[in-house]
Amino acid sequence: MSDVQNEHEEHESPIKTPKQLIAVVIAAFLVPIIVIILLVNFVGHGSKEGAGASTTVEAVNDRIKPVASLELKDPNAPRVFKTGEQVYKEVCAACHATGAAGAPKYSNAGDWAPRIGQGFEGLLNSVLHGKGAMQPRAGTTPDDYSDYELGRAVVYMADAGGAKFPEPAAPAGGATAAASDAGAAPAAAAAPAAPAAAAPAAAAPAAAAAAPASADVGKKVYEQVCAACHAAGVAGAPKFGDKAAWAPRLKEGMDAVHAFALKGKGVMPPKGGYAGPDADVLAAVDYMANAAK
Ligand code: HEC
Ligand code: HEC
Repeated sequence: MSDVQNEHEEHESPIKTPKQLIAVVIAAFLVPIIVIILLVNFVGHGSKEGAGASTTVEAVNDRIKPVASLELKDPNAPRVFKTGEQVYKEVCAACHATGAAGAPKYSNAGDWAPRIGQGFEGLLNSVLHGKGAMQPRAGTTPDDYSDYELGRAVVYMADAGGAKFPEPAAPAGGATAAASDAGAAPAAAAAPAAPAAAAPAAAAPAAAAAAPASADVGKKVYEQVCAACHAAGVAGAPKFGDKAAWAPRLKEGMDAVHAFALKGKGVMPPKGGYAGPDADVLAAVDYMANAAK
């Protein structure tokens, strides 16, 4: 009996007096409460800051942003292609927004007109392989931006500079962000309005027909290639629908006018930079000439 008593005494806790017991009991309550108060204050501090900002949703979005963009880079996820506008803002605007280092400036038709003549493929080629102060792929890697995405940026920029390039075809197996047509320069967009009066046949908007009738080819080629210069009269080009500008040229006869269009003249590149058959260019010449009669 006394043995058990002794052992019990040896393992007795450090609490020996009622005072100590009271102190321990109070501490047992207070310490967790203080910790809880501190934690609540700590967490509350963050949300108070968030509430101070204009919108809490924005603040939350800001916080999860790094996580969200990491998800986009997941190599196993289906690739979501960026729009031309996104690529332009992220990469190309650095030089092209201001025209730094001799870059053709965004939406400056004068800067772009002489370049548009080489067509979409030619421009994309310059971007892929570099040109002047512009590095190949504008300094990006194919992992950052695919050829397709760079192509979309070219279309976005060139169209804002007066071209009417269609969106490049998306490669198979990728989600495409909505394409936008908004980039077309107003000058080029306004041009087809003029012939609507002169040639009633053209009044109906050119339907996006898969196989355009030959009569439509001239209009199509004009809109895609020639309008870059001829819609606004860039660099001394005779303006579309401007009788005074065309009369002295048409006086030389259509054969001469056709020949100039194919060979090029002054700033105008041969065939206006068009890559297709001569007949298409001549159709475009006739389309322009008819609008100026
Ligand atoms: C470091 C500055 C810089 C960046 C960034 C840049 N460019 Fe350029 N870019 C230039 C310069 C300079 C030229 C003119 C090159 C010349 O004609 O010598 C040019 C020319 C071009 C041309 C016309 C090429 C031609 O054949 O006339 C296109 C199209 C183009 N850039 C597209 C892009 C696209 C698309 C991007 C973004 C993916 C981009 N650039 C990013 C500097 C830049
Ligand atoms: C890069 C700008 C540019 C593009 C693109 C362009 N032209 Fe021209 N074009 C000009 C200029 C500049 C002139 C005036 C040349 C001169 O008289 O020195 C001109 C003149 C002409 C003339 C009048 C030739 C004459 O008899 O004096 C015809 C016709 C013509 N272009 C047709 C076309 C056709 C068709 C296309 C599209 C396939 C086209 N152009 C694309 C700049 C361009």
